[in-house]
Amino acid sequence: MRLGPLLLESNLFLSPLAGYTNLPFRLSVREVGGLGLATTDLVNARSLLERNAKALKLIETSAADRPLAVQLFGSVPEEMRDAAVRVAALGIAAVDINMGCPVRKVCRVGGGSAMMTDLDKTAALVKGMVNAVKIPVTAKMRLGWDDQNITAPDLARTLEDVGVAAIFVHGRTRAQGFGGTVNLAGIRAVVQAVKSIPVVGNGDITTPQAARTMLEETGCAGVSIGRGAFYNPWIFQHTLRYLQTGEILSEPPFFARVQVMCRHFDLMIEIFGEELACRMFRKVAPWYAKRFGPANEFNKRVVLVSSRAQFYEVLDQYRAWREQFLDETGELKPRFQPAPMVASFMPQPGQRETIHVPSGPVEVW
Ligand SMILES: Cc1cc2nc3c(=O)[nH]c(=O)nc-3n(C[C@H](O)[C@H](O)[C@H](O)COP(=O)(O)O)c2cc1C
Repeated sequence: MRLGPLLLESNLFLSPLAGYTNLPFRLSVREVGGLGLATTDLVNARSLLERNAKALKLIETSAADRPLAVQLFGSVPEEMRDAAVRVAALGIAAVDINMGCPVRKVCRVGGGSAMMTDLDKTAALVKGMVNAVKIPVTAKMRLGWDDQNITAPDLARTLEDVGVAAIFVHGRTRAQGFGGTVNLAGIRAVVQAVKSIPVVGNGDITTPQAARTMLEETGCAGVSIGRGAFYNPWIFQHTLRYLQTGEILSEPPFFARVQVMCRHFDLMIEIFGEELACRMFRKVAPWYAKRFGPANEFNKRVVLVSSRAQFYEVLDQYRAWREQFLDETGELKPRFQPAPMVASFMPQPGQRETIHVPSGPVEVW
């Protein structure tokens, strides 16, 4: 798959997840394999230009963290342009624009000519960025404000005309938040609205089968996965294999999940320092634990961890506690195994695990 001049190794993308998609997580996922391109958390363009320490930390990268897109957020055209130039100068592969719901104001007053004005404004801002850099500029959006205001197809076409290299679309409206079903027909409408640039579908993908369904039913060129990568950093590797060969690789065993979690934790310490890393990892570890089977003992204690030694002590004690749920071969007894994951847009046989939604500013996601 190509993003403008950039050739990617797969059509699988890591979605930006503010607070999570930092360098340690991106490196951990890349080490597992299958990922085509990762994106940073959203970064405020002005803060980046002001060299705000937090903004600079968000774009911290390394040689192993390639190819990378930085996602910018802002509404002042000059700031967005200059921030894109700054990102390109750092050797980053692509710039992504967080569109949140750019026509929100317009949707509230009912569209019409006001909507065109807003689209024009958005197009001018994006054009300023595209013209200022040689690297691909992409845009990430939702389907629109609500079911009555599905604006993504128009917006995507307008942005293609001013030179964006790809569109990422989360198949929900702003009004939906993270509820309901990802709308594949909505994503397909965006695919059909553009002339030639790739559209990357997004939302609720937690299995290789769900990725293939989204690709087939929408005609999108690739898929982007956010929360599913937290449950399962193998999602990219397994999806790539499935798309290429039809083979479903078996679920990684507990020890492998723990290994990746520990690698992630150690990278966090390397990059953020022990104290901050431990605090940050309190909200990360429970995501891994969702696939451990019974994990309440782990979750209760890991959210209090404040040193590396303590983390590994909690893990050791958890391993011992978890043994009561294992059979003679060391596998979780069937009734303790986590329910299979099923995307909202897939048929749902029997029990399913719904994807967890962390709280936060949905309007910019
Ligand atoms: C905790 C969290 C943080 C997010 N941060 C961002 C962000 O910084 N920029 C963005 O465009 N979308 C953000 N999103 C939206 C995701 O990129 C993605 O579109 C959405 O989660 C649906 O994909 P998924 O079901 O694979 O997670 C965020 C979502 C979550 C749950």
